Amino acid sequence: MVVDTSAVNRGRAVFADRDSLWLFGYGSLLYKAGFPYLEARPATITGWTRRFWQGSHDHRGTPEAPGRVATLVEDAGARCAGMAYRITHEVLEPLDIREKNGYLRFTTPMDFHDGTMEQGLVYIATESNAAFLGAAPLGDMAAHIARSIGPSGPNREYLLGVAAVLRELGVDDPHVFALEDAMLAWEADGVTGAGERAG
Ligand code: SIN
Repeated sequence: MVVDTSAVNRGRAVFADRDSLWLFGYGSLLYKAGFPYLEARPATITGWTRRFWQGSHDHRGTPEAPGRVATLVEDAGARCAGMAYRITHEVLEPLDIREKNGYLRFTTPMDFHDGTMEQGLVYIATESNAAFLGAAPLGDMAAHIARSIGPSGPNREYLLGVAAVLRELGVDDPHVFALEDAMLAWEADGVTGAGERAG
């Protein structure tokens, strides 16, 4: 179901006492920032695992045929690698629109590779949001991603983009890489062609 969390997020003003704030990106914000930032640094947050369990009705799918994109699920002790951006407060307004389909701003500590740490923001679509899809068999998720397309482009680009940056960063994320392998295998089997994907 289509949701709009932008108004809730606007009410969640945080770090108002600072000129800039840190934002942790793990999905589209990892491989396709698309917003101005003052600094970007690879970072890790603890207690969360990346999962392609969120529906996308506005970017990588449509309300009639939602795509499948990343969110974070609670996982005590787990570490999730991504990219931290130092941004100014104005950047949050367009980000709230971009992330409106179920994602809420949360605060989190983020660890940098040099051993330093900062508090910052992360957008998470929790399982209570109406666009949450949850787990499914790997092959089903892979086929779903291979077939989906939305205003921001084919869903497969999102998965390949996240996987490519994780590879560049030297990060092992078994969920992402297994999904990528399964999607490429599904496509190679000729189950779909570009025409069907574009439909
Ligand atoms: C993120 O990338 O940090 C949030 C989810 C998304 O935009 O894909």
